[in-house]
Amino acid sequence: MEQARSVYGNAYETINRYVDILGTKAIDWGLMGPREKDRLWERHVLNSAALADLIPQGSTVVDVGSGAGLPGIPLAVLRPDLQMTLLEPLLRRFNFLGETVQDLGLEDRIDVVRGRAEDCDETFDVVTCRAVANVNKLLGWCTPLFYPDGRLVALKGDSVHQEIADASRRLEASRLDAQVFQVRAHPEAEVTQALVIQRQR
Ligand SMILES: C[S@@+](CC[C@H](N)C(=O)[O-])C[C@H]1O[C@@H](n2cnc3c(N)ncnc32)[C@H](O)[C@@H]1O
Repeated sequence: MEQARSVYGNAYETINRYVDILGTKAIDWGLMGPREKDRLWERHVLNSAALADLIPQGSTVVDVGSGAGLPGIPLAVLRPDLQMTLLEPLLRRFNFLGETVQDLGLEDRIDVVRGRAEDCDETFDVVTCRAVANVNKLLGWCTPLFYPDGRLVALKGDSVHQEIADASRRLEASRLDAQVFQVRAHPEAEVTQALVIQRQR
């Protein structure tokens, strides 16, 4: 995958190994649909990596509802400056994440924690997530994880503007700003939509 080679440079071997794991073990374990096999790079890896420019250098990051490690693992492989925590409540997914992080040799940069966002009492510079919940619910669960000085960075589909409108009361109550960005990991990659929520400045 030429785009991924150019995005990942020296880390290409590691991300390639992760894609192998997604295309085999993640499918066997039921974490990834078999139909995803042909679109792991575009739809999962590059889509996750598209968030990289919205994460400040040296951040501590928690990837809430990480599932098979998305977007957290592609981001951590791309950005060795990040200290990543993958937060996942379901045992099978938690086990998969632990084994995958070990297999990739990334235990020093990625922690795997079993739990729900609303039960986590740590704070981080950045909360990432994809396909976990609507904005209103995410704010209820995740604001304490990044408040007051951090940010939530979420991959979101076309419903994002409606979701922001539905969460307006909660956003205002916590004096939070929501901004939507069109981002991509590579100039020829598909554009994806990212939501950034942080305290009003
Ligand atoms: C549709 S999957 C998305 C997985 C991954 N983020 C991705 O994009 O492929 C949603 C994930 O969120 C997790 N989840 C659901 N409720 C959660 C909560 N309250 N706190 C943390 N994770 C949660 C689920 O266990 C599941 O792994």
